Amino acid sequence: MAQINPSILSADFARLAEEAKAVEGADWLHVDVMDNHFVPNLTLGVPIVESLSRATDTPLDCHLMIEAPDRWAPQYVEAGAGSVTFHAEAAAAPVRLAREIRAKGARASMALKPATPIEPYEDLLPELDMLLIMTVEPGFGGQAFLDIMLPKIRRTRELISKHGLELWLQVDGGVSASTIERCAEAGADVFVAGSAVYGATDPAEAVRALRAQADG
Ligand code: DX5
Ligand code: ZN
Repeated sequence: MAQINPSILSADFARLAEEAKAVEGADWLHVDVMDNHFVPNLTLGVPIVESLSRATDTPLDCHLMIEAPDRWAPQYVEAGAGSVTFHAEAAAAPVRLAREIRAKGARASMALKPATPIEPYEDLLPELDMLLIMTVEPGFGGQAFLDIMLPKIRRTRELISKHGLELWLQVDGGVSASTIERCAEAGADVFVAGSAVYGATDPAEAVRALRAQADG
């Protein structure tokens, strides 16, 4: 079954606990950490993740859009994240980092910006629990879905099958009622949705509707 991860980037940051409760029933809560260096935007860090993990039973899927994830990612596991995603473009030692995240008890995940190909990372896939393919340039919610990423999603799904791996394939950026079916058809099974969930009148219902669409 498809997993839907609402992104709190589109939520009201002054009411994070309530906004997290508004999507209980979602598989994971997607938390976008931005440092104003790796991406031109600044969001939140370890103390807020720690508070959020106490405020909701939904596991946290932390997407680190930061420089030096080798140094910071383990702290997000300690803060309560169930899954930690670092960017391939920022990690100095991705294999060591993935192993460290797993050893600390979280799922290890790696993200690729739109211009980063999957092929150089084929041999790393067994070290990961999830691969995130960005379907917008990271940094902001509410951007238009990049259709040109569909072949990369398809190729990645083929590599996962070829190696007989269990890892999840996540898409993030512009995922909505009008794009989720194409992503699912290309092979994604974990869907991040910010504006499509928090922009809806009933966010919990939006999660159910997206999941039903992805499951076809
Ligand atoms: C963008 C973030 C996304 C963002 C998605 O850099 O990584 O998680 O919240 O927002 P939507 O779903 O509105 O494109
Ligand atoms: Zn994200």
